[in-house]
Amino acid sequence: MFVFFSGCLCIGSDTISAGQSLFSNQTIISKDGKFELGFFAPGNSSNFYVGIWYRNIPVQTAVWVANRNNPIPQSSRSNSRLELLNGNLYVYANSVTIWVVGTSNATEAVILDTGNFVMRNASGIIWQSFDYPTDTWLPGGSVGFRWFSDIDVKLVSWKNPNDPAMGDFSLGMEPNGGSELFINRNGSERLWRSGVWQGGGFASLSGGSNFYNFTYVTRDDTVYLTYNVYNEGMISRIVIDFLGQLRLLVWSEASQSWIIYQTQPSNACQQYALCGPNAICDINNSPPCSCLVGFVPRATQEWDLFDFSGGVGAGGCLLFNGDLVDLERMSNNSAVADLYVRMDPIALPAKGKRSFVLPLALAMPITAGVLACFCLCYLQRKLKSKESQGAHQNLLLLDLNSNEAAYNKRNSVRNGHREEKNKQYELPIFSFSSIVAATNDFSISNKLGEGGFGPVYKGELLNKQFVAVKRLSRRSGQGLEEFRNEIELIAKLQHRNLVGILGCCTEKDEKILVYEYMPNKSLDFFLFDATKKELLDWTRRVHIVEGIAQGLLYLHHYSRLRIVHRDLKASNILLDAEMNPKISDFGMARIFGGNNSQANTNRIVGTYGYMSPEYAMEGLFSVKSDIFSFGVLMLEIISGKKNTGFYGSDCLSLLGHAWNLWEHDRVLELIDPTLDISSSTPSRYIQIGLLCVQDNPADRPLISDVAAMLNNEQTALASPHHPAYTVGRTLTKANPREREVELCSINNMTVSLMEAR
Ligand SMILES: *[C@@H]1O[C@H](CO)[C@@H](O)[C@H](O)[C@H]1NC(C)=O
Ligand SMILES: *[C@@H]1O[C@H](CO)[C@@H](O)[C@H](O)[C@H]1NC(C)=O
Ligand SMILES: *[C@@H]1O[C@H](CO)[C@@H](O)[C@H](O)[C@H]1NC(C)=O
Ligand SMILES: *[C@@H]1O[C@H](CO)[C@@H](O)[C@H](O)[C@H]1NC(C)=O
Repeated sequence: MFVFFSGCLCIGSDTISAGQSLFSNQTIISKDGKFELGFFAPGNSSNFYVGIWYRNIPVQTAVWVANRNNPIPQSSRSNSRLELLNGNLYVYANSVTIWVVGTSNATEAVILDTGNFVMRNASGIIWQSFDYPTDTWLPGGSVGFRWFSDIDVKLVSWKNPNDPAMGDFSLGMEPNGGSELFINRNGSERLWRSGVWQGGGFASLSGGSNFYNFTYVTRDDTVYLTYNVYNEGMISRIVIDFLGQLRLLVWSEASQSWIIYQTQPSNACQQYALCGPNAICDINNSPPCSCLVGFVPRATQEWDLFDFSGGVGAGGCLLFNGDLVDLERMSNNSAVADLYVRMDPIALPAKGKRSFVLPLALAMPITAGVLACFCLCYLQRKLKSKESQGAHQNLLLLDLNSNEAAYNKRNSVRNGHREEKNKQYELPIFSFSSIVAATNDFSISNKLGEGGFGPVYKGELLNKQFVAVKRLSRRSGQGLEEFRNEIELIAKLQHRNLVGILGCCTEKDEKILVYEYMPNKSLDFFLFDATKKELLDWTRRVHIVEGIAQGLLYLHHYSRLRIVHRDLKASNILLDAEMNPKISDFGMARIFGGNNSQANTNRIVGTYGYMSPEYAMEGLFSVKSDIFSFGVLMLEIISGKKNTGFYGSDCLSLLGHAWNLWEHDRVLELIDPTLDISSSTPSRYIQIGLLCVQDNPADRPLISDVAAMLNNEQTALASPHHPAYTVGRTLTKANPREREVELCSINNMTVSLMEAR
């Protein structure tokens, strides 16, 4: 509620024409008389603002404020004006410019019947207040964003009822957030989500009633949500208030007051991720949080959650990865979908040991859950009891220089795809105690990172050289002896673009691998950091892409083992002192995932965003799934952007974005702006990347083809087909894959836990 300055002497029109001023004692009024624009002071504030309010309701309510962060002080009030000058709109106080919209072409500024204040010329609207809302969403207005023009239409709360300056809370969609609305605090701290758009509504926000609806629109570069009321006479608005509450309000003539039709978050369970991962919130319980069956409470709750929301609309298949976050048990009738979680039977209490299915009434805001459609059952291989008692070497005494000599001996042609020259070579087995000593008892300060299969530590040898020590999780399906055999095979893979394995340790049930140490960490460390990425100029990036291709070529075609990596990603590309790329974690799939030919595996290892669709959805992997990951990696390297996720029908993953640009012949816009490029090669690289991420594995090239394309600029390139994970608008109906997607209906959704990667 506000006390308005109301010594109104109206201009008597809805328009400010070129050269005209609106003084602080004047207003303009929309044609139908519903909205009024002028100067006002909110609440008990002594400051003045230019804003829009409802003309016909006695409880004065501002729906838009122009100079929200730059008030006009009381003393300047009589000397302030809104003026359309040279096509630009100014607010002046004492001749000082307080606020301005520069268009240079507008010939008039008009307040429309919808409450939208627009600047236009004979060709049409150039600027509109609906694109720059304050805290209020009026019917007919949209919230969302335009990808190419950087317009992100969000509501931002007032600081308090007396101060319209930007407050802490915002309501809007997010470029990486899929078809959901979010309330965030301070821009990034997520407080509430609506749940994904499904057939006309959201799980946590009623999408319509007999008087209003939401319409969700995606177009080439545009994703937005429009709010409409059917009856034009009805006065309604959505506001994000200064306490962070979304409110849908309707004006009641009878009571002469605003009636709250909806409030969000509506209860404790609606708060985002209140219970943490793998827990469910039930407002009828006290306390409301409990773990999912098979999970136990953690001593310390971690909040660094994966949070990809994904999903195709109703009738589609929702894919989640990471932990199941933000689950809510709905009251009986409002269940949106049943969620079946298939789990490792070992983790379950005895009575649920068989195929355990957890029927959950599921609030769609389950975010970030788990990758759908997998089975976690895997064959527990028999543990061979035979514990080899080979002499354990002391890691501290390892000399990398002489060790390298041993490598070179084994690999007479080091870069020439050869391996295993010297059959006598035995992989060093280090004693656990020496590894403990080198890593300072696996101390936190030595930790380099948490890799897919376990933490990695820096180990220091007596001669001050470094090694990287990876302590594998004990959950690999193999016994120690098999593990050691496997490592010995993998360690024989030697290539300058593969990280070298120096030895292992299998004492005390531990499975530890010792690798060469890479001083420059991993590619993601550089690529996705605003300042470090500048170190990667175009030549370096090309060098990295080519190196990865060579390493992969070796794994796929030239090594005896024909390794499918299955988890190629930026954080698995390590960089040596000269920034040469080296693939790490190869062969892990053999240890953790059973056999390694083209196979239908029931155990998925891989990383969301890099996984090919056939692998993610059907567990089918082959060299072509690595090609997919390679393509994603290539596009990431060129664009400097993460392929953070895919967003159902929005088509706005990096792949979707790249494809969009490709289709519109604007691929150069994908290139990392920090790159200074004069040649035309980048578009060729993007084309190769797009060829690799094609939906149909048969369309993707082999890595040998890719290497040829990279090496020879004269090689003609095919025209890529639609990439995967941009399901929706442009996928041809004839594509068999889409039918599979549709077959996977939401009501039969199977979500299984995947092994952490
Ligand atoms: C309205 O304000 C303008 C500028 O301060 C002034 O020139 C004009 O006389 C005022 N009109 C009335 C009726 O007060
Ligand atoms: C109206 O403004 C637009 C955008 O600034 C401009 O491109 C167009 O030429 C203008 N039309 C006229 C008739 O001045
Ligand atoms: C939000 O940010 C502002 C300024 O950066 C700070 O004063 C305020 O405490 C923050 N609020 C919360 C809840 O973190
Ligand atoms: C919502 O209502 C508006 C106005 O009546 C209508 O044009 C629009 O098609 C409706 N949207 C949906 C999704 O029904």
